[in-house]
Amino acid sequence: MLGRNRQEDKMSDFENFKKRIERELLTHRVITSNPFTAWWEKGEMNLEQVRAFIVQFSVFSRRFIVAQALKVANSDSLGSMRESREILANEIGTAFTNKGTVDGGIYRPEQGHYEWLLAIGERIGLAFGNMGKLEHGTPETLLFCDELVRRYGSEDYKVALASGFAVENWANAGFWKQLIAGFEIFNKKREEYRNFLLPLHFFVFHDRLEDKHADHTWSELEKVYYEGLRTSNPIDEDKFIADGKRMLLGVWIFWEGLDKQRKEKELEN
Ligand SMILES: [Fe+2]
Repeated sequence: MLGRNRQEDKMSDFENFKKRIERELLTHRVITSNPFTAWWEKGEMNLEQVRAFIVQFSVFSRRFIVAQALKVANSDSLGSMRESREILANEIGTAFTNKGTVDGGIYRPEQGHYEWLLAIGERIGLAFGNMGKLEHGTPETLLFCDELVRRYGSEDYKVALASGFAVENWANAGFWKQLIAGFEIFNKKREEYRNFLLPLHFFVFHDRLEDKHADHTWSELEKVYYEGLRTSNPIDEDKFIADGKRMLLGVWIFWEGLDKQRKEKELEN
């Protein structure tokens, strides 16, 4: 009987933590009110603005591989190492099978996510050498990439856990859909130039994937939470939220840089 009550207490502890996260972390302005994606969604961007956006996203996309590889290298259990490797393997070109894992999936170079950005670049006059390297990043994009490598890929697993949680929940908050909506309007306007329509796999694929990722971060957090209670090494809730917010600040700066850039390109047109 006592055991059961204790179990219920623990349950409600996690429920309370969950409510705190929803209230204090997932209400971050980068999740609730991103000015760049709200503008993009309207589809009013010009070609220069699309080009500039794709270049910044390509820098982020390449640095993400570095951050993800560090996450693998810094894993503190076999389970989390495998989870991180799944994401890395998929990112560089191994397809998920219909069971949602890369186990048994096929590697194809053209399935590397970066190649989908190259495919867009090709349609708008960006060659391989014009995208993706640090030298192509704005200061804001570079700051975000540094934060990602340092925090998402942190040696300190608790920092990596909170940062990964924040990043995945940001990614699941609907911005992929806003980007796709804007691209579709943009493509429609270009319909007469059939050969120049932008292939949107990169955005469509990531949008489809995010649900699964975000669900997964909640279940991972729950596992780590109870593991912490069992081993008398509980999660420091305040620190988890502070670490998550710190990561989201980096994300915010990235979008703020994009917003600044698109306004400058407005003037150029
Ligand atoms: Fe990706």
